[in-house]
Amino acid sequence: MNSRIATDIGNIIGDKNIIVPNTDNNDFTIDRRQKRQSFPALIASPDNTADLSKLLTYCYKNKFRVVPQGGNTGLVGGTLAASNEIIISTRRLNKIRAIHKLDYSMIVESGCILADVQAQANRNDRFFPVSLGAEGSCTIGGIISTNAGGINVLRYGNTRQNIHGIEVVLADGTIIHSLNRLGKDNTGYDLKQLFIGAEGTLGIVSAAALKLSPAPLSTVSVLCGFSRIEQSLELLELAQLYSSNQLTSFELISSVAMDNTLKHTPSISRVIPACSWYALCQFSTSSPVIDVSSLAENFLETAADKQLIKDAVLSRSISQENGLWKIREALVTAQRLEGESIKHDIAVPISKVPELVRTVDREVKKIMPSIRPYPFGHLGDGNIHYNFSQPTDMDAITFRAKESAIHNVVYNIVDKLDGTISAEHGIGTDKKALLAQYKSTADLDLMRAIRRVFDPHSQLQVGKLV
Ligand code: MLT
Ligand code: ZN
Repeated sequence: MNSRIATDIGNIIGDKNIIVPNTDNNDFTIDRRQKRQSFPALIASPDNTADLSKLLTYCYKNKFRVVPQGGNTGLVGGTLAASNEIIISTRRLNKIRAIHKLDYSMIVESGCILADVQAQANRNDRFFPVSLGAEGSCTIGGIISTNAGGINVLRYGNTRQNIHGIEVVLADGTIIHSLNRLGKDNTGYDLKQLFIGAEGTLGIVSAAALKLSPAPLSTVSVLCGFSRIEQSLELLELAQLYSSNQLTSFELISSVAMDNTLKHTPSISRVIPACSWYALCQFSTSSPVIDVSSLAENFLETAADKQLIKDAVLSRSISQENGLWKIREALVTAQRLEGESIKHDIAVPISKVPELVRTVDREVKKIMPSIRPYPFGHLGDGNIHYNFSQPTDMDAITFRAKESAIHNVVYNIVDKLDGTISAEHGIGTDKKALLAQYKSTADLDLMRAIRRVFDPHSQLQVGKLV
């Protein structure tokens, strides 16, 4: 980028808010999977909405391409920028503007870190339920732009269901002030929903009115082991039945994922004997009159009577509960430590998860008999991270050479089971071609038409999503 443009942008947002891309700020240039690095022309990090608006107006007039970036924790290539693009980082838009406790709402800027927002809500006896592995570094703008999911979707929904309003700056610099904190607003199109999950293609979210829930007063988690994937559905049904609507999460862990996590994480030890599958569930309540431990005990007793589980453990303290969830958090890193992986973030109707697991396993092994399936995920949402690890006797290049054949097999099965090729990580660049393959022409045409309205000069997130 020529120095005049850097000077202009410095004049708009302040020189201190310009970051020159180089190998010292890999934070902005290497993606979370650490698979690729890409240097933008410039990184601009405005610290207030008015400056963001002026910056976008300048880019619009000069037809510069822009890539919005939050914590750069995306998993599908959506956060990286090419050398002819400017990254607009939201990290310095990081103020918590207000907490409206009685409205169960909190106004935060888009660069706030999710974990900080959760903690601030907790300090006010409230709960912001979106929770995921990257919460220590992902931003509110990032979770909004990707409609992030995570472990509490079963009870509280995706990010989409936990937003009252947003403030967003359009490609031409227009600020849309829609930070209402209303649970109801039936005044025509719900425009904010367009920006949620749009991956920055329609504008840059600068702030949001988050919907808060009552803070849980007590929680209990259960890890149970079972033999057949079909039993996971019976267990989920039973957990829902016995939870009195207090079931927050229901996560599936395969034996391969469990064993590998134990192997690579010395701080975690085995808590129940080895089984083929495990379910990790949390019951939580904000009611002082509900005893979640009894609910969980009743669930386990019934599951045992019905011979659905082989073994189980129920947390008796916060530290025991944290210990169980540490297993879940460590699964992803442990897979990375085991070598190369081929990943899928897919969802099917819950009832079809067993068929998905059996069919994917069988069909992918036809392509690569020694491949190591590594499934885990959010069974309560039908969202399985059906990953594969490199065979122990195969080099990385030979493994990668089969990646697209394996993707094809998996996505065709998902499609036949009425599922989706992206349940929570989004599309970015990685799944753009797939989207074109699996969405209907009518859907794609409509998405492109919407995009054109918001981004007439094709400047935002070029080459991503649709
Ligand atoms: C998870 O559920 O742990 C993540 O969505 C999976 C991932 O980071 O690949
Ligand atoms: Zn996930």
